[in-house]
Amino acid sequence: MLKDKKVLICVTGGIAVYKAVALVSKLAQAGADVKVMMTESAKEFVTPLSFQVMSRNDVFFDTFDEKDSSVIAHIDLADWADLIIVAPATANVLGKVANGIADNMVTTTLLATTAEVWFAPAMNVDMYQNKAVMRNIEMLSNDGYRFIEPSEGFLACGYVGKGRLEEPEKIVELVFEHFTPRNLPLKGKKVVITAGPTRERIDPVRYVSNFSSGKMGYSMAEAARDLGAETVLISGPVSLDKPSGVRVVDIESAEDMFQAVVKEYEDAAMVIKSAAVADYKPAEIHHQKMKKSDGDAVLQMARTTDILKTLGERKDQQILVGFAAETENVLAYGQDKLQRKNLDYIIVNDVTDPDGGFGNDTNVVTLLSKKGLVQPHESMPKRQLAKVLLEEIIEEEGLDGFNDR
Ligand code: PMT
Repeated sequence: MLKDKKVLICVTGGIAVYKAVALVSKLAQAGADVKVMMTESAKEFVTPLSFQVMSRNDVFFDTFDEKDSSVIAHIDLADWADLIIVAPATANVLGKVANGIADNMVTTTLLATTAEVWFAPAMNVDMYQNKAVMRNIEMLSNDGYRFIEPSEGFLACGYVGKGRLEEPEKIVELVFEHFTPRNLPLKGKKVVITAGPTRERIDPVRYVSNFSSGKMGYSMAEAARDLGAETVLISGPVSLDKPSGVRVVDIESAEDMFQAVVKEYEDAAMVIKSAAVADYKPAEIHHQKMKKSDGDAVLQMARTTDILKTLGERKDQQILVGFAAETENVLAYGQDKLQRKNLDYIIVNDVTDPDGGFGNDTNVVTLLSKKGLVQPHESMPKRQLAKVLLEEIIEEEGLDGFNDR
């Protein structure tokens, strides 16, 4: 099934190197042409001979060992590969590539390639959650690298947690999916998605916010990415992992979100506003902690900018999709927002529904369009729902028509 596909496996030094042998074996059995490159520390765990036998190809590890004088090996391999997978990817290699360091054959090749590169990290759970490692992963994701997240379980270091290299079978499945020709209707399109709550500061220790977890917006971003979009996710403060292959812009307040969305708006093909943006913010931000007194306190609130309404007024080629979080007269209020904010679509959810709304993994929504579509959806996981909603919008727009916009 992977016949004629050229996959370069870059093996870096961690105990999970033994699983990379199985990965190479499975890819080769599936018909791929597999070549392997190792760092010096990877060779401490498994010898190059194991990879040579499994791949039936030479194994590369020395930048200066030029076997073929007609080419420069690391450039040749960087150009040769259709796909490069770094498995296992150590904290060290993530840090180096994130910072443009090329000091061995693996990192030099990664910097020289234009092929898609996936990292499959494997390390101790605390190391994986280390701020510097998280920062490097975020930088790499924003640079367009994809991540195969480690799974949870017993780690070689004796800890239990997230840090195990994903199983070779699962990685092979992802490789199959990657090479299976798919209809990617959003390819070449920029889709901007907002997610999560905003925080409106009162003073250095207090803020006004809401219960949005970001799950709906993050699911929309992952679905847009999977449908081929260049995806920008403008996210309020949430505790979700950043999706790989998506450019994430972190914001805090409604004003930050407004600035970030406007910056991305002009060349966007679609904007989806899943975020729960504050309608009001404290009229004044106190720069010192407000002191309590015996009596009640009154907080003067001022309106925030209605971002979606502003986008509706400035609409050009963009398809504008809003969400409406309602607790009563759900469809009527949704229709009203659709018209008033000059939207193409609105996804209405009753946030009092125990199967939907804030924080849940599932949602129950109705998709309304300005052309009169009313499409209700049963409760389903937000991840599945996001894909269904995007596919409906794409169909409504007409695939070719969409591409012409
Ligand atoms: O994040 P989760 O926990 O997964 O929960 C998902 C959700 C309930 C937050 C989501 O499904 C949802 O309904 N998001 C929209 C919430 C909201 O703010 O609804 P609204 O009816 O108040 O606003 C209507 C639309 O205007 C929204 O697209 C909102 O992003 C936008 N808006 C609102 C106020 C404002 N100042 N600017 C805006 O752009």
